[in-house]
Amino acid sequence: MKIERKPSTALLPTPVVLLSVAGHGKEKDNIITLAWVGTVCSAPPMLSVAIRPSRHSHRLVDAAREFVVNIPRAGQLGKVDLAGVWSGAEHDKFAELGFTARPAKHVAAPLIDECPINIECVVRHQLDLGAHDLYLAEIVAVQYDEDVLDARGHVKTSALEPIAYVEGEYWSLGERIGSYGRAAKALKTEKK
Ligand SMILES: Cc1cc2nc3c(=O)[nH]c(=O)nc-3n(C[C@H](O)[C@H](O)[C@H](O)COP(=O)(O)O)c2cc1C
Repeated sequence: MKIERKPSTALLPTPVVLLSVAGHGKEKDNIITLAWVGTVCSAPPMLSVAIRPSRHSHRLVDAAREFVVNIPRAGQLGKVDLAGVWSGAEHDKFAELGFTARPAKHVAAPLIDECPINIECVVRHQLDLGAHDLYLAEIVAVQYDEDVLDARGHVKTSALEPIAYVEGEYWSLGERIGSYGRAAKALKTEKK
């Protein structure tokens, strides 16, 4: 039996990231926790973030048109949660959460040094969707902590420990259960 519920954001799970953005004028650089994020294009590499117009960060992203999407580790969950409750209008989140702002290579936004992956982005499109504005941004550079890359330069997911968001709860990833194309390869072998 299927149970129909009213339409909602049921695409689960979503990643949990920290977006860092440069302060406008005399304002401090800021960090906002986001879960409404996604991969949207391979070439050019692009991602999307959805931010409510009421957020302090919305104003900063509108002014800067650049940001960094930082992927935090599960061990940083407490700080991730606080960055998603505190506002940059009242808090210096870099200083109060003990994060280090490191200059990015290609954008003015600082990256969060303690996060193992930092994705430098330039806003290409902005859409007013209703509750959220959608920013479609081109990825212009990606920085990785050495310890999350294997000898071939591939991401070691077990070292990364990403956080997933499911209906108000934070989850960690479980075991690797397969890899791309394995099922198709097995089918081919079976038919031989
Ligand atoms: C796990 C989590 C995910 C969130 N995802 C989003 C999101 O995708 N978009 C958004 O506008 N706010 C999101 N928020 C809320 C903002 O992070 C929160 O309102 C924050 O305090 C805004 O900070 P700012 O005022 O410094 O911009 C999320 C909060 C948490 C804890």
